[in-house]
Amino acid sequence: MDPRRIVVAVSGGIAAYKAPELVRVLTGAGHLVRCVLTREAPRFVSPLVLETLSQQPAGDDLFDSRSGEIDHIAVADWAELIIVAPTTANLIAKLAHGITDDLVTAVILATRAPVLIAPAMNVNMWEDEITQRNLALLRDRGFETVGPDAGELACGWQGEGRMSDPGVIAEAAYRVLTAPSLHGQRVIVTAGGTSEPIDAVRSITNRSSGKMGFAIAAEAARRGATVVLVAGETPLATPTGVERVAVSSALQMHEVVLRELASAQVVIKAAAVADFRPRQTSERKIKKEDLGPDAGLQIDLVRNPDILADVCREVKQTGGRQVVVGFAAESHDVIPAAQRKLERKGCDLIVANDVSRTDAGFNVDENAVSFIWPEGEIEELALLPKARVAAELLDRVEKLLGENA
Ligand SMILES: Cc1cc2nc3c(=O)[nH]c(=O)nc-3n(C[C@H](O)[C@H](O)[C@H](O)COP(=O)(O)O)c2cc1C
Repeated sequence: MDPRRIVVAVSGGIAAYKAPELVRVLTGAGHLVRCVLTREAPRFVSPLVLETLSQQPAGDDLFDSRSGEIDHIAVADWAELIIVAPTTANLIAKLAHGITDDLVTAVILATRAPVLIAPAMNVNMWEDEITQRNLALLRDRGFETVGPDAGELACGWQGEGRMSDPGVIAEAAYRVLTAPSLHGQRVIVTAGGTSEPIDAVRSITNRSSGKMGFAIAAEAARRGATVVLVAGETPLATPTGVERVAVSSALQMHEVVLRELASAQVVIKAAAVADFRPRQTSERKIKKEDLGPDAGLQIDLVRNPDILADVCREVKQTGGRQVVVGFAAESHDVIPAAQRKLERKGCDLIVANDVSRTDAGFNVDENAVSFIWPEGEIEELALLPKARVAAELLDRVEKLLGENA
């Protein structure tokens, strides 16, 4: 996402200690951040920490003589988004009723930017009818919410009331900032490597981490799509708002993708699918003692189904209008190999990446890809974070959907 101007408003709850981490996450992603605090918030977190991390003055006084720098109208106008983290019960009540007796409430009432609140409080305060009614008023006014989560609370109680983690709040913020340009579209994304079993404990797999496919799924969800993420074995957390279907082998992935195809408008095949699998799988662990003293193990491999080719064939045969994108992970002759793949399979677009590079491709957070188009055009992208590659790719997918409509 391009850098955005984000105000982080902090109120006087214990979870204010997580506000600096939120600022770090946002500035780390390249966004411009300004902090404002309620009168009570500095009891819980130092404005100096927030100023240092945001590299901007952090105000807690509506009548601060440094006005101009921390003028509430100027801050309200500057913001493209206001995140309130944490949001106390008191602040929810004040915002719901238009009270503006401090810097935070004044900024929020004065802004036209969307407001995302991250409530955090004792479970009884949270469940109290008055808090819930105030919250409903805010939601009716278009406020977005994230959390609270359930768990052990700082006050010693168990239940709902924990502020969401800064990464989750940032993710919710990006969702608010992203236009729902894929609303109504069902997108299948495959990700990660497949694992082809040899016996009860061994398998043939590859070095794909799944990060690229997960980034695409997250971005598609942010754009409002219904996302089915068909994921091989990877420890990555499921992106917010994404339905994950866990698979292991290429055969399983093939079955799920072809089953989901009819109800989808977009298929993006970012998984590293094994071309071959052992002809036979032993239910039990193969023991070397059973093979003889020096005998090696011969594994007979057979071809796996070609998921991308089968998807393209199915789309053609059924007269479907799905947009189909494949990935080509190559170690040499990257572009010609990707062009041949595009021709062979007949998909709408191939994303080629060179997995021999150590700074891009498998298992790292950045990727250098080229988009290979059927008309012969090649678009070479610079080395970018995978989230940016995902956004660039989905911009192209949206264009293809527009052309297919
Ligand atoms: C130690 C301590 C922890 C508190 N934690 C919370 C909290 O997590 N959530 C909350 O809504 N209020 C909490 N409060 C109460 C608020 O600080 C109090 O309502 C205050 O007036 C909030 O002011 P503000 O909303 O203007 O920041 C806490 C109070 C104390 C003394």
